[in-house]
Amino acid sequence: MSGDTLGAGATGSAAARRDAAVRAWTALRPRLADDAVAALGEADADAFVTRAELALFDVHVPLGLLYGDRADALFERALGTALAAAAERPAALRRLDRRREIDPGWFQRARVQGYVCYVDRFCGTLDRLPEHLDHLEELGTTYLHLMPLLRPREGENDGGYAVADYRAVDPRLGTMADLETAAAALHAWDMSLCIDLVLNHTAREHPWAQGWLAGDPAYAGFYSAFPDRTLPDAYDATIPEVFPDRAPGSFSWVPEACGGAGGWVWTTFWPYQWDLDYTNPEVTLAMLGEITWLANRGVDVFRMDAVPFMWKRMGTSCQNQPEGHTLLQLLHALTRLAAPGVVFKAEAIVAPDDLVAYLGAHERFRPECELAYHNSLMVLLWSSLATGDVRLARQALRRMRPIPPSTTWVTYVRGHDDIGWAITDADAGAVGLDGFAHRRFLNDFYSGRFPGSFARGALFQENEATGDARISGSAASLCGIEDALERDDPAALDVGVRRLLLLYSVAYAFGGIPLLYTGDELALRNDTGYLDDPERAPDNRWMHRPPMDWAAAARRTDPATLEGRVFAGVRRLGEVRRSLLALRGGTEPEVLDAGSDAVLVWRRRHPRSGTFVGVANVSPHPQQVDADTVTGFGTFAQVHGSDGPLGVRGGRLTVPGLGWAWFAEP
Ligand code: GLC
Ligand code: GLC
Repeated sequence: MSGDTLGAGATGSAAARRDAAVRAWTALRPRLADDAVAALGEADADAFVTRAELALFDVHVPLGLLYGDRADALFERALGTALAAAAERPAALRRLDRRREIDPGWFQRARVQGYVCYVDRFCGTLDRLPEHLDHLEELGTTYLHLMPLLRPREGENDGGYAVADYRAVDPRLGTMADLETAAAALHAWDMSLCIDLVLNHTAREHPWAQGWLAGDPAYAGFYSAFPDRTLPDAYDATIPEVFPDRAPGSFSWVPEACGGAGGWVWTTFWPYQWDLDYTNPEVTLAMLGEITWLANRGVDVFRMDAVPFMWKRMGTSCQNQPEGHTLLQLLHALTRLAAPGVVFKAEAIVAPDDLVAYLGAHERFRPECELAYHNSLMVLLWSSLATGDVRLARQALRRMRPIPPSTTWVTYVRGHDDIGWAITDADAGAVGLDGFAHRRFLNDFYSGRFPGSFARGALFQENEATGDARISGSAASLCGIEDALERDDPAALDVGVRRLLLLYSVAYAFGGIPLLYTGDELALRNDTGYLDDPERAPDNRWMHRPPMDWAAAARRTDPATLEGRVFAGVRRLGEVRRSLLALRGGTEPEVLDAGSDAVLVWRRRHPRSGTFVGVANVSPHPQQVDADTVTGFGTFAQVHGSDGPLGVRGGRLTVPGLGWAWFAEP
């Protein structure tokens, strides 16, 4: 290849982008260093500039990829925003940053365990949170996800996911000062705080949206609107609908849009949630300002809401676009310049093949989010429980690409959303199932329509056109606990409790931060209270967002009660988990076939902390597994289990129906 060809080929190449980054850095560095000394003092300035240099390719390259020749100017502004935020960062948080820069895997430790709740439903207002930290501590919580709490629009607000002001707390929950106090209280209890960062859209009432609508040049291009249906129809042709029954399509007619002539505004979710247009770098910088500002209030983890939707491309699902990843990488790198202790958690409820990229697993590792919901595991657990068979889980989990060692999953059984059956046709086909038929079966099963089903859930967003639907319902109700209580059947209740603890035994030991969803520790059932509230009634996801039942919580210490049994079970999972170094993140589990299609077996090898093996029998009948496959011929001790030590005979371990066990190298 001649020198010329090489030169020409390098334009727009990765090498050229890196060269451009180095040039920009060389030009900016002296000024940045001076500004940093003025803003932070010598020592912290040193650290800031070093961080910026290390992150150079994670900041400048994405800017070039997304915004072309505006990259240099944006680079300077973005670093300016990060520096200003670093300067405003309170001293206590800087100390936390320093600890976390020394211990970057802090969120991967076995002691990290999450709890997820709504402020109003859990404790009323933020200032009363400290009164309930003992409940969380009893459960071993070290990571608290408070559901959306920023000021939403008035009226319907999608459970707080329609934010009208990122810098104010919902007045019904308290003030920003209360949030800061809550964060400090959590830190004092050695817990970290996670909040939602809704960045795909704002409420239509947000000042950015109102400014844009009014033609304020400061907000020009913040959102997108189309004067007629041509482009919306073209996009809609390939975009799957999120809320087909009440918000079909991805656009909403807004009479004031397009300079008053009216236009179709991009609204992936509800019509009052307007998608931001990240092809406009002003949006990116504005959002960076909001993230770093919130980080400085004491937020440790941002749950990056609905990130698959942030970048649109004609002819695609408008999800998981490469530029969306680049954008996340950019926001991540910039946020961590200002607040290096902060991590991102991706809410990407997508197919297994698309999921790991949110943890930075691209053709080469590119830091993106440290955490992501293991949506696949969650879905496969419910699927396995319905069929009493783990072949699909084994197939799908084994086929997933490994995640980068510096990241980890959050593992969960239930959350505040519906369960969407993210099972690919290819995985279903590989184990002899028809994907569509299986997803339909799961909907029938968990909505209780399937004959003999123990579940009491409900269909969410049934789409007549495609036959798709998702499932709402609390974990306890989906596990048969509600049904058993109604039928006053103690044996069925036992089985329901076994199912619930079985699922949590996997979530607590598969690898990653386990999240306990509010009320599951007390087996709270579906709550029909939402039907009395006209704003909530049409959205049955509220059935599994029950208010905390403190009377039920008071029974948690009584082993004769349902609450006592479940609470003790969940609490013990956390206790044992904390003691097992092999359960720390940074390594991937290997899913094994130990000779029973009803038993999920996974092994975690940790280079320093030894090996862990978990077994979980999803069928109601005892199953035998091959002991040597389980132990890998190593010496193992059973450290926990549903029914005491498993029996071994003739090289076979017997796992009781809906039973489970954890083993570790002594
Ligand atoms: C996320 C939230 C969901 C919300 C949506 C729109 O998926 O989990 O509750 O409806 O984003 O913000
Ligand atoms: C987000 C989630 C999806 C969920 C929806 C509404 O789009 O990705 O799984 O169904 O919000 O809850």
